[in-house]
Amino acid sequence: MTTTSIAGRATAVAARATDLSKVYGQGETRVIALDRVSVDFGQAEFTAIMGPSGSGKSTLMHCVAGLDSFSSGSVRIGDTELGSLKDKQLTKLRRDKIGFIFQAFNLLPTLTALENITLPMDIAGRKADKQWLDTVIGMVGLSGRLGHRPSQLSGGQQQRVAVARALASKPDIIFGDEPTGNLDSRSGAEVLGFLRNSVRELGQTVVMVTHDPVAAAYADRVVFLADGRIVDDLRDPTADSVLDRMKRFDAKGRTS
Ligand SMILES: Nc1ncnc2c1ncn2[C@@H]1O[C@H](COP(=O)(O)OP(=O)(O)OP(=O)(O)O)[C@@H](O)[C@H]1O
Ligand SMILES: [Mg+2]
Repeated sequence: MTTTSIAGRATAVAARATDLSKVYGQGETRVIALDRVSVDFGQAEFTAIMGPSGSGKSTLMHCVAGLDSFSSGSVRIGDTELGSLKDKQLTKLRRDKIGFIFQAFNLLPTLTALENITLPMDIAGRKADKQWLDTVIGMVGLSGRLGHRPSQLSGGQQQRVAVARALASKPDIIFGDEPTGNLDSRSGAEVLGFLRNSVRELGQTVVMVTHDPVAAAYADRVVFLADGRIVDDLRDPTADSVLDRMKRFDAKGRTS
């Protein structure tokens, strides 16, 4: 799959949502979390997803990552249509092709940093590529902390373990839901810099939900959601240009 970006560059598509809708509940409690969203996430690109609380960011990410079912439309990861997969195949695709970084880190407290990093591969019965693992661990600066358990690590270090875990198996695409939301600005900047380097230098694909214009400025592109729809798409963002867009949405209101 290829697409042509605004700048005229041909980019391969890592993931694509087409007319994707997600409805929660029925009757009075019915919520349209996603309303016919169509979006491509380019390979070897860093995309940020922004929008007000409740606009559907996490829902979009979970549906595209195969973590949640959707009501209508379609999702592809690479050339694989998620709707065509049985549960077992979906689990395998998630395990083999997708990396996750969550705000709450999701590390296992009884395992060391290194054991946490290799856990997904251990579960899958795959051997870690030792050289790659060393590269990733060196890049996130965890070499001296591999035998520590999460409770013995700072928040920033724990999040770097989660980043290393996502990268270790060389997934086709990494999804992060506010991966720096719990970090102080310096630790956050380190994690974001590392994610950006993994895109620039290693060709990794990253899609990240964030509320923070400074975090979004690390991305190549920002997709804005409001009320379950994509309302804007910004290339080569700066913190100022992102903030500017956010202000304009606020001024227009969200009632349209
Ligand atoms: N399990 C659920 N059951 C019912 N409604 C839900 C459920 N999960 C999410 N929603 C609703 O769907 C909408 C989108 O939620 P979502 O979590 O995607 O928002 P978000 O943009 O990630 O917000 P935030 O920035 O607060 O994390 C919201 O109105 C939310 O209340
Ligand atoms: Mg969310």
